[in-house]
Amino acid sequence: MASTWTSDSWRGFEGRHLPSYPDPADLARVEATLAHYPPLVFAGEARALQAELAEVAAGRGFLLQGGDCAESFAEFHPNNIRDTFRVLLQMAVVLTFAGKLPVVKVGRMAGQFAKPRSSPTETIGGVELPSYLGDNINGIEFDADARRPDPERMVRAYSQAAATLNLLRAFAGGGYANLRQVHQWTLDHIGRSPWASKFAETADRISEALDFMQACGVNPETVPQLQATQFFTSHEALLLPYEQAMTRQDSLTGGWYDTSAHMLWIGDRTRFEGSAHVEFMRGIGNPLGMKCGPSLTPDALLRMLDTLNPGRIPGRITLIARFGHDKVGEGLPPLLRAVTREGHPVVWSCDPMHGNIVKTNSGFKTRPFDRILAEVRSFFAVHRAEGTHAGGIHIEMTGQDVTECVGGAVAITHETLGDRYHTHCDPRLNAAQSIELAFLLADMLNLERQEKGKAQAA
Ligand code: TRP
Ligand code: MN
Repeated sequence: MASTWTSDSWRGFEGRHLPSYPDPADLARVEATLAHYPPLVFAGEARALQAELAEVAAGRGFLLQGGDCAESFAEFHPNNIRDTFRVLLQMAVVLTFAGKLPVVKVGRMAGQFAKPRSSPTETIGGVELPSYLGDNINGIEFDADARRPDPERMVRAYSQAAATLNLLRAFAGGGYANLRQVHQWTLDHIGRSPWASKFAETADRISEALDFMQACGVNPETVPQLQATQFFTSHEALLLPYEQAMTRQDSLTGGWYDTSAHMLWIGDRTRFEGSAHVEFMRGIGNPLGMKCGPSLTPDALLRMLDTLNPGRIPGRITLIARFGHDKVGEGLPPLLRAVTREGHPVVWSCDPMHGNIVKTNSGFKTRPFDRILAEVRSFFAVHRAEGTHAGGIHIEMTGQDVTECVGGAVAITHETLGDRYHTHCDPRLNAAQSIELAFLLADMLNLERQEKGKAQAA
């Protein structure tokens, strides 16, 4: 892969999980259209995110990355964007206040459409059709028309991403994220959860701290950091024709950036040697995520890191471990040791969702919340044992009052799972479950700090 990179050099490599469009001329026309549309993010912002992630890699911050498994055209609504954003704010504030670390906030939002599927086709009642691949490729309805890949969907995905990002920027900078608003972020429907009162307690303490600082002359007017936050976007860079069309040369540095999002990640199924996705990702300047699962050997991981980050730039790579609650304890340490030994400055993040899917008797896919928490605990325990920093969390969540993952303080049972099960893909954490998780993470971060303190004192 050492040959010259261009934004289309991936086309000479093996591309898995890419749709085959019935009309190549149609596809080429849409690609040309998108290539002239304005970038969604600016290269300087991607560099700013990378600088923040470099701090995380050095143990001085925490990455919070979350959002839908898959965004959809049908659920495109300002309230949905706002509700997911406000849960992320709640989680961020818990982590900042109780975990005592700056939090880098990255949404799986404004572009998370395409999905790799385990089977290219789906059979229902003897009828076989192409699988649903995400709203930017085909439709979820089970009919031949909907399932045909349509390049025009990329244009619609672009506009939805642009409008979503615009609203997120407005929320982040326009006053909604002001720390004085901390009580307003709580959603009504989590009122019955014990974690709602725990959050209210935290919010009271933050308000009190702000009152005190105000009396000292420090307030959101004098200190702008209190009234705004930085919010970044990310998605899996799966649909390469779209990602290529959004890739532009930065006028300031001459580097190439995929301007469809600040951060892009590569999934478990497209990360292999000779992969078109790896070829594409190695040439863009954005910070990159890479999913790491049980199938990844330390040697393969090191080769990937040498390909994707030969300059060993801190913050460029975030390794997102997704093992499953019963495998992370054994699977993670060999990878961790190899990366540490070779001196790759990465962020280690935990995806406790993707290794913990089970099918219920009624046919729903779910994720038991206790397994999600168990994977998080195990991930932190491994890092404590190795003396490395558990740097982040990557979750599928929503601000909607869904019942997709079983368990949690307001117990969702296998029987009530069907009540409000809406996801276009995998089961997501709801608001109450997300906040419960944030408090657990804060506890774990405090434990890590205590251990470090002990080690330094010894
Ligand atoms: N600007 C700081 C930060 O983003 C503090 C802050 C402002 C904040 N609004 C926030 C933190 C909302 C968490 C959530 O970290
Ligand atoms: Mn998913």
